[in-house]
Amino acid sequence: MKLLIINGPNLNMLGIREPGIYGTENYEALCQRALFHAEELGIDLELYQSNHEGDLVDEIQRAYGRIDGIVINPGAYTHTSIALLDALKAVGIPAVEVHISKVEEREAFRQISYIRAVCVKTITGHGISGYLEAMDFLLSYRNRGGKS
Ligand code: DQA
Repeated sequence: MKLLIINGPNLNMLGIREPGIYGTENYEALCQRALFHAEELGIDLELYQSNHEGDLVDEIQRAYGRIDGIVINPGAYTHTSIALLDALKAVGIPAVEVHISKVEEREAFRQISYIRAVCVKTITGHGISGYLEAMDFLLSYRNRGGKS
């Protein structure tokens, strides 16, 4: 079992960026916690972050045939990107949408998620722990034979 965690724009600024909303742990801490959790679960994990939409599309395409599940926080591209939706559809890899903040309680423009339609689950407002929950979900989803 090999998972990929993809983070979009400004998530490399965790810890500095609006700590009242996104917390004080930085991106490196997110990576360390996720890698530690992968070890606990006995699975392989890759992590990727980019501020560029096309690079995120490339990374999703690169996952085809190699990766069993994707955890994705596309940051602001959640609310704008049909390209990311299409990329996830193209590769057909089970994906979980994660947001650190509770997007449903924030501005109206954050209520749209283009990728949600193709994701097997969405986790919001659980901070960095949300990524670990998404990993757990994808593992049990696979063990259930791909059923929610
Ligand atoms: C976010 C929520 C988005 O609306 C925002 O643009 C982000 C982070 C979150 O993790 O809560 O960059 O995806």
